Amino acid sequence: MKTHIITYGCQMNEYDTHLVKSELASIGAQFVDSIPEADFVLVNTCAVRGKPVEKVRSLLGELRKEKEKRDLMVGMMGCLAQLEEGQQIARKFAVDVLLGPGALTEIGKAIEAKNRFWDLSFREELTHHLPPAPQGQLSAFVSIIRGCNHHCTYCIVPTTRGPEVSRHPDLILRELEQLKAAGVLEVTLLGQNVNSYGNDQPGFPKFGELLRRVGQVGIPRVKFTTSHPVNFTDEVIAAMAETPQVCNYIHLPVQSGSNRVLRRMAREYRREWYLDRIRAIKEAIPDVVLSTDIIVGFPGESEEDFEQTLTLYDEVQYDSAYMFIYSPRPGTPSYKHFQDLPREVKVERLQRLIEKQKEWSYKKNQQWVGRTVEVLVRGSAKDEGYAEGHDRGNHPVLIPAAQAPRPGLYQVEVKQATPHMLFGEVVGSQEAATIPLMMA
Ligand code: 5AD
Ligand code: SF4
Repeated sequence: MKTHIITYGCQMNEYDTHLVKSELASIGAQFVDSIPEADFVLVNTCAVRGKPVEKVRSLLGELRKEKEKRDLMVGMMGCLAQLEEGQQIARKFAVDVLLGPGALTEIGKAIEAKNRFWDLSFREELTHHLPPAPQGQLSAFVSIIRGCNHHCTYCIVPTTRGPEVSRHPDLILRELEQLKAAGVLEVTLLGQNVNSYGNDQPGFPKFGELLRRVGQVGIPRVKFTTSHPVNFTDEVIAAMAETPQVCNYIHLPVQSGSNRVLRRMAREYRREWYLDRIRAIKEAIPDVVLSTDIIVGFPGESEEDFEQTLTLYDEVQYDSAYMFIYSPRPGTPSYKHFQDLPREVKVERLQRLIEKQKEWSYKKNQQWVGRTVEVLVRGSAKDEGYAEGHDRGNHPVLIPAAQAPRPGLYQVEVKQATPHMLFGEVVGSQEAATIPLMMA
């Protein structure tokens, strides 16, 4: 079967696509790069905001037209599939296969079923599943915990992905060993909330301890995402500081700088707690690079509340931020109970926040000029004559292509910086990989 998979959303979705792809490969599927070549199109969906839902809706509309013309099977997986909203869309557009985020291991059965196959259960098998290492990649993801036990009032994820389930540490370490053997130089540990790791399973290590064990595998770079400030313990900070493989990069979503808004979001911490975590992090990891998620225009957010977010930004001095306009999601408490703010107010605040982010990203990036950073070069950049990669702090870095002829780790002196990236020159290479650099 010629299969084409389209992935929307977060890194967990990318990992899930890899998992499903390897299951399909094991039953003989081939993969093609476009819809017209495919006889099975599978859409991995995101439901966190309205925009990705609209994208799925219009893609499925196109696919239904295509189905009228020829023999084509259409599948939908991921967060949207789990929701009534998604199932309505699936019915409307005659989707054949529908798998919720907990039912991915059923993909083989779904293909063989020939008839419509829908499964929305949360299956144990998924926690025990060990996907094979991706080939020819220097960076890879490993899921360590699925689901979320928090109940942020704007968020649909606890509904779509269910409660927290940690994977067995032995399985995680085995997956990492396989990745190391396949030549992977950077791994990102994934979960909706990695800091909760082990809390649901007596006898499992906590996240700090897991980080230390992961470091011992010997993959040179270890990153993780996403963290919840409420579980970002001193032990996690100490494990980061004391494990050389763990990169100096932390993504710590704050969502808002106003205590009134944080309370209405049910974020379980206050501004002072968050700032104290940042203080402890900076003390233990002086070179830390910090990013965050911020929602602007949460229902009831006043001008003063929003200004609190701006002042928090100045206090933390984030290196970068993912900024979102609040999107009311059916099925969430804030959708049910709160009135959405006018769009103009939300857009205007987003613009001001973006200005703040650019200012800080520029200042923070400038601080790296003249310093030497380790860059994992992936391949050629869109800008002609450059190779691109990223450093341990997750900054995108461009290097003259002739200086980095192969993917791998290079020591790079930073020569220039913009708000978006660093530019540098190679001063040494460590572990050049064996894959030749693909020139686009
Ligand atoms: N509206 C806008 N942003 C949202 N996020 C989650 N739910 C919503 C929503 N309803 C954002 C949060 C989260 C990130 C993954 O997406 O900032 O951290
Ligand atoms: Fe959503 Fe909050 Fe859980 Fe993150 S911690 S997935 S924002 S409910």
